[in-house]
Amino acid sequence: MKKLLTLLLAVTLLFTLFACNSTSDDNSEENGGSTEGNETVQTSGELSRIDKIKQEGKLRIGTSADYPPYEFHTEIDGVDTIVGFDIALCQYIADDLGVTLEVTDMAFDSLLISLQQDKFDIVAAGMSPDEERLKAADFTDKIFESEQSIILRKADVDLYPTTAELAGASIGVQKGTIQEDIAEGITSNVIKLTKLSELITELKTGKIDAVCIDYPCATAYVSGNDDLIVSDVEIEYEGPGTCLAVQKGETEWAEYLNGIIKTVNEDGTMDQFIAEASMLADASLE
Ligand code: ARG
Repeated sequence: MKKLLTLLLAVTLLFTLFACNSTSDDNSEENGGSTEGNETVQTSGELSRIDKIKQEGKLRIGTSADYPPYEFHTEIDGVDTIVGFDIALCQYIADDLGVTLEVTDMAFDSLLISLQQDKFDIVAAGMSPDEERLKAADFTDKIFESEQSIILRKADVDLYPTTAELAGASIGVQKGTIQEDIAEGITSNVIKLTKLSELITELKTGKIDAVCIDYPCATAYVSGNDDLIVSDVEIEYEGPGTCLAVQKGETEWAEYLNGIIKTVNEDGTMDQFIAEASMLADASLE
């Protein structure tokens, strides 16, 4: 009887050992990224964002490339390319991680939803955190700060010396931007469109009276359109500046990005990115 028990115990032990061994084999295969199914999801879920990016060999960013000098399309050697200081910063991050940069261009108001669906590692779109956005994403430290501004047709500049005269005028804003609220504080007639280029066309053709956007973007569009002007009208707005957005709870990832932002701010690299992007923006919109 005793012998039988010992035998049973030995067999059980052998099975257990075998089972453990095959599990760890599976895991090492999954770490190489070759197995699909539940276990893989669990394993990659345990990987940090940085490990995941390194494993996949690419940094995926989402943007809305209609916001010069932050992010915009230009032709480089005959090829349509997305450039801008947000993009230059993300390229710097990709280089630091030793991976390639993958840029997805989409409507501004779809970016945070796509981030939540893990379509990107970062949203880089001249985006400022606000109460609503902070429910959907976490934000890094500030990259850039700008004033708000109003673009008018040059011919109309004397009609609107202050925001008071703009009450009742139609002000165009990009859908989903903080400019929605800013414009609603000035007039009850706010036109929200997805594309900034459409807003500029509407303004030039007299369908709307003004466009409200961040100041650097306003000067970029005006430099390419002789009939438009950035108004001197002062807009009251105190914001936290533009940042990168990451998925909610990704503290370690945000901290790593903050380290990079600190470095590029301190060593002048960010200023260089801004200067280069502004020059490119002026040249490509002329
Ligand atoms: N700074 C504004 C915001 O946070 C507008 C950003 C628009 N960005 C763009 N890439 N079109 O809402």
